[in-house]
Amino acid sequence: MPNTAAMPAPRAGAHVLEARNLVKDYKTKKNEDGSKTFRAVDGVSFNLARGQTLSIVGESGSGKSTVARMVMRLIEPTSGQVDIDGRDWLALKGSALRAARRKLQLVFQDPYSSINPRMKVHQIVSEPLRNFGLCPASQLKDRAAELLEKVGLPTAALERYPHQFSGGQRQRIVIARALASEPEIIICDEAVSALDVSIQAQILNLLRDIQAKTDVAFLFISHDLAVVQHISDEVLVMRKGQVVERGDVRSLFSAPKHEYTVKLLDSVPGQRVFS
Ligand SMILES: Nc1ncnc2c1ncn2[C@@H]1O[C@H](COP(=O)(O)OP(=O)(O)O)[C@@H](O)[C@H]1O
Ligand SMILES: [Mg+2]
Repeated sequence: MPNTAAMPAPRAGAHVLEARNLVKDYKTKKNEDGSKTFRAVDGVSFNLARGQTLSIVGESGSGKSTVARMVMRLIEPTSGQVDIDGRDWLALKGSALRAARRKLQLVFQDPYSSINPRMKVHQIVSEPLRNFGLCPASQLKDRAAELLEKVGLPTAALERYPHQFSGGQRQRIVIARALASEPEIIICDEAVSALDVSIQAQILNLLRDIQAKTDVAFLFISHDLAVVQHISDEVLVMRKGQVVERGDVRSLFSAPKHEYTVKLLDSVPGQRVFS
């Protein structure tokens, strides 16, 4: 048996994503005390290891999407740091930033907010390949077909339009597009929340299969603890912009420490399956 005390500390590079002390103040109308900002995210830190799933749960308004948008660099944090592959992600600019963006993809709740309804599926799915210059034009359609296969859609889907698909199928199209740039991290923000429970399960299984094959890491955001139970390695519980509890998924479900987590669990049907 190796002496564990003598084993080296994990490499910094083991974490594909590290967020430290993220804060976001939004400008608001004047509050009662005269202040003009609202702190939506208040000192959130987490690490995400390669090939793992970290979930952020919390009720609506707790700051989950704000965290996602800061990590994606869609909005600027008020303060805090984000490292991707051990590099200062928030400091990247210009061509270095554009090149690094392919490592990170986002899947939203509503596919229609992120796909152009007038584009055919092959154009939608191959968009990142074109944007990042990853594939010669002559091979885009073949590559799109391969991506569709990865998410369980037939080649016939290539020439169709988004409205010709069900909600679950549309989410598969968005996942195929997210995979196109071979990202290291996919942020799923309420990605299955609009779907029926049986379809949710299919999409969650698909995400797990994809992770097993590609080693992609998921930052999986949901207001619904039931959804994160079967996909997470670790869970972070947010309330009013702060992390109130974190832990591996088993201990969090079987022995929640914070009363807010207990409250969230109480609304999960068939809760605490591990206890
Ligand atoms: N652009 C914005 N301007 C002002 N307040 C915002 C903005 N976006 C979100 N908020 C507020 O920040 C809080 C957190 O929102 P959000 O991150 O969307 O929470 P969640 O995704 O957990 O539902 C909410 O109170 C929301 O109203
Ligand atoms: Mg949200």
